[in-house]
Amino acid sequence: MPAETTDRIAVLDFGSQYSHLICRRIRDFSVRAELLPFDAPAAEVLSDGTLGIILSGGPASTYEEGAPMPQQGIVESGLPILGICYGHQVIVTKYGGRVRRVSREYGPSTLTVDDESGLLAGIGPTVRAWMSHGDEAEEIPESFHVIGHTEGAAAAAISDRAGRIFGIQFHPEVAHTPRGTDILRNFAVGICGARQEWTMEAFVERSVRRLSNISGRILCGVSGGVDSSVAAALLHRAVGDRLQCIFVDNGLLRYQEASQVTDMFSGLGVNFDTVDASVSFLAALEGVDDPEAKRKIIGEEFVRAFTRYSKEKDQFKWLAQGTLYPDVIESGVSGGPAAVIKSHHNVGGLPDWLGLEVLEPLRDLYKDEVRRLGRILGLPERFLVRHPFPGPGLGVRVMGEVTTEKLRICREASHIVEEELDRAGLYDSVWQAYAAVGDDRAVGVVGDFRLYGYVVMIRVVESVDAMTADWARLDHSLLGAMSSRITNEVEGVAWVTYAISSKPPATIEPQ
Ligand code: XMP
Repeated sequence: MPAETTDRIAVLDFGSQYSHLICRRIRDFSVRAELLPFDAPAAEVLSDGTLGIILSGGPASTYEEGAPMPQQGIVESGLPILGICYGHQVIVTKYGGRVRRVSREYGPSTLTVDDESGLLAGIGPTVRAWMSHGDEAEEIPESFHVIGHTEGAAAAAISDRAGRIFGIQFHPEVAHTPRGTDILRNFAVGICGARQEWTMEAFVERSVRRLSNISGRILCGVSGGVDSSVAAALLHRAVGDRLQCIFVDNGLLRYQEASQVTDMFSGLGVNFDTVDASVSFLAALEGVDDPEAKRKIIGEEFVRAFTRYSKEKDQFKWLAQGTLYPDVIESGVSGGPAAVIKSHHNVGGLPDWLGLEVLEPLRDLYKDEVRRLGRILGLPERFLVRHPFPGPGLGVRVMGEVTTEKLRICREASHIVEEELDRAGLYDSVWQAYAAVGDDRAVGVVGDFRLYGYVVMIRVVESVDAMTADWARLDHSLLGAMSSRITNEVEGVAWVTYAISSKPPATIEPQ
């Protein structure tokens, strides 16, 4: 699908952990910003409405051999450029200055503004700035002057004479640089002249216009998750009855999930089919206890259910997916972790021979933008703020072999955990909360009887991006309430434990 053609700021990614945040901050003040690989061709960087370019930070040093540089024609394009940290050194190097290694400076610093016009306009005489670098400009290019300095860096911010090319040693995109967003706004709006048109309402209008021009029927697999549901709601607004949603009940769903999802989609008036494939999923999982083998089987079963449905109907041209911007970036730019810790395969891996063209209407959006979009499209709030749920569902929360008894325990106990957390007003402040169950059993007493029952593990974690996570320090009385309800209300449970492992070394889901 063609990208939007509103004004944009192109951000070249030199590998800093903060590159993503630069886009995020700029989009917060309604200017479109997109991350591109540092070596993206000039034609790609300069097209599609680009009015300015940002060079991100990164771990390399410009004086090393093979140091990453933008492609020919980008720095020379005449468009305004802002180099941040490593990008600052790229500007210094490209325009004939010199960069040297210094002792590593990391943390807060005070920037004194020497030129209050242009990039640093209106941010005050001094401002806190976050530093994270090991190199600095020893000699700035002749055509540049210093617009800001810190105690440790004489050329912490520089500008060319025309006030169009800038380098800053600090990171304006992080929260530790409190006026950072103003600096990015000065650049994007003040200097590049980008219009602040990246609003969700405008996005809906443009997307609907574009999507409604697509011919043929669209198949959209929905999981009950936010992304696929918002994608479906957007498509429905654009193409109405030409959209067909399918929800595969794999037998690994949360408490009452199938009926909740069905109700929600019926409320939206979308063509919606549920395919009950639970028997086939559970049969395929019988006797399998290895976590990766389980994930693989679940992925294959999804493909099978989907393929069968699509072949039976044989009338679809498009397959819609709820791919988000970070997924696009992770697969294309930053590469992802070197070792596969868990294979996160979802419905995405459909075979090419299915012959459907892929449609990704949310590929330009971040998760919080998707939630805002969902609100505009009328999806229920409760649903939009629901915790993430893994594609393989309870298959990764039931440890060891998946059995109907363990599934029932996992489902009912998780429901209690969520309900108690909600009652305590904490549901929205944690990343995920659920109960898992394995094959361990322990002795308990129910009334006058001995029970050799299952051990249920409560897992509640806090996280910002799921890459790292910490266990939630829940009040003991809340944990006590969860535990006694689980043992009282869920048949077959004798003990309840609380998982106090962080990620790393543990992961969020146990399998
Ligand atoms: P882990 O367990 O790897 O999980 O720490 C990180 C986050 O990803 C979710 N998760 C998945 N999501 N398909 C998904 O869509 C998967 O296969 C999958 N496995 C884990 C997990 O719930 C957590 O939010």
